[in-house]
Amino acid sequence: MTSAAASPIPGGMKARILRIAVAMAIGLVIAAGIAWWQVQNEPQPSRTARTQETQTAVSIGGPFTLTDHTGKTVTDQDYQGQYRLIYFGYSYCPDVCPTELGSMARAMEVLGPLGDRVQPLMITIDPERDTVSHLAEYVALFHPRMVGLTGTPEQVAAVTKAYRVYAAKRPAEGGKTEEYLMDHSGFLYLMGPDGAFIRIFPAGTTGDELAADLRARLAG
Ligand code: NI
Repeated sequence: MTSAAASPIPGGMKARILRIAVAMAIGLVIAAGIAWWQVQNEPQPSRTARTQETQTAVSIGGPFTLTDHTGKTVTDQDYQGQYRLIYFGYSYCPDVCPTELGSMARAMEVLGPLGDRVQPLMITIDPERDTVSHLAEYVALFHPRMVGLTGTPEQVAAVTKAYRVYAAKRPAEGGKTEEYLMDHSGFLYLMGPDGAFIRIFPAGTTGDELAADLRARLAG
Protein backbone atom coordinates (compact mmCIF):
# COMPACT_ATOMS: atom_id res chain seq x y z
CA MET A 1 0.00 0.00 0.00
CA THR A 2 3.00 2.33 0.00
CA SER A 3 5.38 3.12 -2.88
CA ALA A 4 3.87 0.73 -5.46
CA ALA A 5 0.42 2.21 -4.92
CA ALA A 6 1.83 5.76 -5.17
CA SER A 7 3.34 5.10 -8.63
CA PRO A 8 0.80 5.34 -11.47
CA ILE A 9 2.52 2.44 -13.29
CA PRO A 10 3.29 -0.75 -11.35
CA GLY A 11 6.79 -2.25 -11.66
CA GLY A 12 5.71 -5.23 -13.75
CA MET A 13 4.01 -2.93 -16.24
CA LYS A 14 7.16 -0.78 -16.46
CA ALA A 15 9.21 -3.82 -17.40
CA ARG A 16 6.69 -4.73 -20.09
CA ILE A 17 6.69 -1.21 -21.53
CA LEU A 18 10.50 -1.31 -21.61
CA ARG A 19 10.45 -4.66 -23.41
CA ILE A 20 7.99 -3.34 -25.98
CA ALA A 21 10.10 -0.20 -26.49
CA VAL A 22 13.24 -2.30 -27.03
CA ALA A 23 11.37 -4.57 -29.46
CA MET A 24 10.13 -1.52 -31.40
CA ALA A 25 13.65 -0.08 -31.57
CA ILE A 26 15.01 -3.37 -32.91
CA GLY A 27 12.14 -3.48 -35.41
CA LEU A 28 13.03 0.01 -36.65
CA VAL A 29 16.68 -0.93 -37.12
CA ILE A 30 15.67 -4.04 -39.10
CA ALA A 31 13.24 -2.01 -41.22
CA ALA A 32 15.96 0.54 -41.98
CA GLY A 33 18.31 -2.29 -42.94
CA ILE A 34 15.74 -3.82 -45.28
CA ALA A 35 15.03 -0.42 -46.86
CA TRP A 36 18.75 0.10 -47.44
CA TRP A 37 19.09 -3.36 -48.95
CA GLN A 38 16.15 -2.73 -51.27
CA VAL A 39 17.70 0.50 -52.50
CA GLN A 40 20.95 -1.38 -53.20
CA ASN A 41 19.06 -3.99 -55.18
CA GLU A 42 16.64 -1.83 -57.10
CA PRO A 43 16.70 -2.32 -60.84
CA GLN A 44 18.83 0.07 -62.82
CA PRO A 45 16.54 2.83 -64.13
CA SER A 46 15.03 3.83 -60.79
CA ARG A 47 18.45 3.83 -59.20
CA THR A 48 20.13 6.18 -61.65
CA ALA A 49 19.18 9.36 -59.81
CA ARG A 50 20.34 8.01 -56.48
CA THR A 51 23.61 6.73 -57.98
CA GLN A 52 24.33 10.22 -59.28
CA GLU A 53 23.66 11.63 -55.82
CA THR A 54 26.13 9.13 -54.38
CA GLN A 55 28.74 10.18 -56.93
CA THR A 56 28.49 13.83 -56.07
CA ALA A 57 28.68 13.08 -52.35
CA VAL A 58 31.61 10.66 -52.53
CA SER A 59 33.63 10.24 -55.68
CA ILE A 60 34.87 6.71 -56.29
CA GLY A 61 37.28 5.84 -59.06
CA GLY A 62 39.15 7.95 -61.56
CA PRO A 63 42.10 7.81 -63.91
CA PHE A 64 44.92 5.34 -63.29
CA THR A 65 48.12 4.16 -64.93
CA LEU A 66 49.19 0.60 -64.15
CA THR A 67 50.88 -2.41 -65.77
CA ASP A 68 48.82 -5.40 -66.82
CA HIS A 69 49.83 -9.04 -66.36
CA THR A 70 51.32 -9.16 -69.86
CA GLY A 71 53.67 -6.30 -68.98
CA LYS A 72 51.81 -3.65 -70.97
CA THR A 73 51.26 -0.18 -69.51
CA VAL A 74 47.53 0.49 -69.33
CA THR A 75 45.26 3.28 -68.17
CA ASP A 76 41.55 3.42 -67.34
CA GLN A 77 41.04 4.66 -70.94
CA ASP A 78 42.01 1.21 -72.25
CA TYR A 79 38.71 -0.15 -70.92
CA GLN A 80 36.45 2.54 -72.38
CA GLY A 81 33.17 1.13 -73.64
CA GLN A 82 33.24 -1.81 -71.24
CA TYR A 83 31.73 -2.35 -67.86
CA ARG A 84 34.56 -2.94 -65.40
CA LEU A 85 34.23 -5.31 -62.52
CA ILE A 86 37.14 -4.42 -60.25
CA TYR A 87 38.50 -6.26 -57.26
CA PHE A 88 41.41 -5.02 -55.16
CA GLY A 89 43.33 -7.89 -53.61
CA TYR A 90 46.61 -9.77 -53.66
CA SER A 91 47.69 -13.17 -54.84
CA TYR A 92 49.13 -14.30 -51.50
CA CYS A 93 45.74 -13.81 -49.83
CA PRO A 94 44.88 -17.12 -48.18
CA ASP A 95 41.10 -16.99 -48.32
CA VAL A 96 38.94 -13.96 -49.15
CA CYS A 97 40.56 -12.85 -52.41
CA PRO A 98 40.37 -16.28 -54.10
CA THR A 99 36.70 -16.53 -53.12
CA GLU A 100 35.85 -13.11 -54.56
CA LEU A 101 37.84 -13.67 -57.74
CA GLY A 102 36.13 -17.04 -58.06
CA SER A 103 32.76 -15.27 -57.91
CA MET A 104 33.85 -12.86 -60.64
CA ALA A 105 34.96 -15.79 -62.79
CA ARG A 106 31.69 -17.60 -62.15
CA ALA A 107 29.71 -14.49 -63.18
CA MET A 108 31.66 -14.33 -66.44
CA GLU A 109 30.91 -17.98 -67.12
CA VAL A 110 27.21 -17.52 -66.39
CA LEU A 111 26.99 -14.43 -68.64
CA GLY A 112 28.63 -16.18 -71.58
CA PRO A 113 28.89 -13.96 -74.69
CA LEU A 114 27.01 -11.13 -72.90
CA GLY A 115 30.05 -10.92 -70.64
CA ASP A 116 32.21 -9.73 -73.54
CA ARG A 117 31.12 -6.23 -72.56
CA VAL A 118 32.42 -6.73 -69.03
CA GLN A 119 36.11 -6.52 -68.19
CA PRO A 120 37.04 -8.28 -64.95
CA LEU A 121 40.04 -6.58 -63.34
CA MET A 122 42.08 -7.59 -60.34
CA ILE A 123 44.18 -4.70 -59.06
CA THR A 124 46.85 -5.75 -56.61
CA ILE A 125 47.29 -3.97 -53.31
CA ASP A 126 50.63 -5.78 -52.87
CA PRO A 127 52.85 -4.61 -55.76
CA GLU A 128 55.99 -5.74 -53.92
CA ARG A 129 55.14 -9.40 -54.42
CA ASP A 130 52.57 -9.25 -57.21
CA THR A 131 54.97 -8.83 -60.09
CA VAL A 132 53.81 -9.01 -63.71
CA SER A 133 54.80 -12.66 -64.12
CA HIS A 134 53.35 -13.63 -60.77
CA LEU A 135 50.02 -11.96 -61.58
CA ALA A 136 49.97 -13.63 -65.00
CA GLU A 137 50.02 -17.04 -63.35
CA TYR A 138 47.52 -16.00 -60.71
CA VAL A 139 44.74 -14.48 -62.84
CA ALA A 140 44.93 -17.41 -65.26
CA LEU A 141 43.74 -19.64 -62.42
CA PHE A 142 40.40 -17.84 -62.43
CA HIS A 143 39.31 -16.79 -65.90
CA PRO A 144 40.98 -16.37 -69.30
CA ARG A 145 39.58 -12.84 -69.60
CA MET A 146 40.59 -11.70 -66.14
CA VAL A 147 43.25 -8.99 -66.24
CA GLY A 148 45.68 -8.51 -63.37
CA LEU A 149 47.05 -5.02 -62.78
CA THR A 150 50.10 -4.02 -60.78
CA GLY A 151 52.40 -1.01 -60.76
CA THR A 152 54.86 0.95 -58.72
CA PRO A 153 53.97 1.37 -55.04
CA GLU A 154 53.05 4.98 -55.89
CA GLN A 155 50.75 3.98 -58.77
CA VAL A 156 49.03 1.37 -56.61
CA ALA A 157 48.69 3.82 -53.74
CA ALA A 158 47.07 6.33 -56.09
CA VAL A 159 44.49 3.90 -57.45
CA THR A 160 43.60 2.46 -54.05
CA LYS A 161 43.13 6.01 -52.76
CA ALA A 162 40.90 6.91 -55.72
CA TYR A 163 38.70 3.87 -55.03
CA ARG A 164 38.81 4.38 -51.27
CA VAL A 165 40.28 0.96 -50.71
CA TYR A 166 41.68 0.17 -47.30
CA ALA A 167 44.92 -1.83 -47.46
CA ALA A 168 47.66 -2.26 -44.88
CA LYS A 169 50.49 -4.68 -44.35
CA ARG A 170 50.18 -6.98 -41.37
CA PRO A 171 53.63 -8.31 -40.38
CA ALA A 172 53.74 -12.06 -39.91
CA GLU A 173 54.15 -13.40 -36.42
CA GLY A 174 57.71 -14.56 -35.88
CA GLY A 175 59.14 -11.66 -37.86
CA LYS A 176 59.54 -13.26 -41.32
CA THR A 177 58.99 -10.04 -43.22
CA GLU A 178 58.41 -11.68 -46.62
CA GLU A 179 55.49 -13.68 -45.29
CA TYR A 180 53.24 -10.80 -44.36
CA LEU A 181 49.50 -10.69 -44.94
CA MET A 182 47.52 -7.68 -46.10
CA ASP A 183 44.48 -6.38 -44.28
CA HIS A 184 42.16 -4.94 -46.88
CA SER A 185 38.60 -4.03 -47.75
CA GLY A 186 36.89 -6.59 -49.95
CA PHE A 187 34.34 -4.78 -52.07
CA LEU A 188 33.77 -5.43 -55.73
CA TYR A 189 33.35 -2.26 -57.78
CA LEU A 190 31.23 -1.96 -60.87
CA MET A 191 32.18 0.91 -63.13
CA GLY A 192 30.22 1.82 -66.25
CA PRO A 193 31.40 1.85 -69.86
CA ASP A 194 32.27 5.55 -69.38
CA GLY A 195 34.35 4.72 -66.29
CA ALA A 196 31.85 6.21 -63.84
CA PHE A 197 31.10 4.47 -60.59
CA ILE A 198 27.87 2.44 -60.63
CA ARG A 199 27.84 0.38 -57.48
CA ILE A 200 29.66 -1.73 -54.95
CA PHE A 201 28.97 -5.39 -54.32
CA PRO A 202 29.69 -6.48 -50.75
CA ALA A 203 32.18 -9.28 -50.10
CA GLY A 204 30.38 -12.61 -50.30
CA THR A 205 28.21 -11.70 -53.30
CA THR A 206 27.94 -14.90 -55.31
CA GLY A 207 28.84 -15.26 -58.95
CA ASP A 208 25.20 -15.89 -59.81
CA GLU A 209 24.10 -12.72 -58.01
CA LEU A 210 26.76 -10.74 -59.87
CA ALA A 211 25.67 -12.25 -63.16
CA ALA A 212 22.00 -11.41 -62.51
CA ASP A 213 22.83 -7.76 -61.78
CA LEU A 214 25.09 -7.47 -64.81
CA ARG A 215 22.67 -9.22 -67.13
CA ALA A 216 19.96 -6.67 -66.27
CA ARG A 217 22.31 -3.81 -67.18
CA LEU A 218 23.69 -5.43 -70.30
CA ALA A 219 20.22 -6.23 -71.58
CA GLY A 220 18.94 -2.69 -70.90
NI1 NI B 1 42.36 -10.84 -49.57
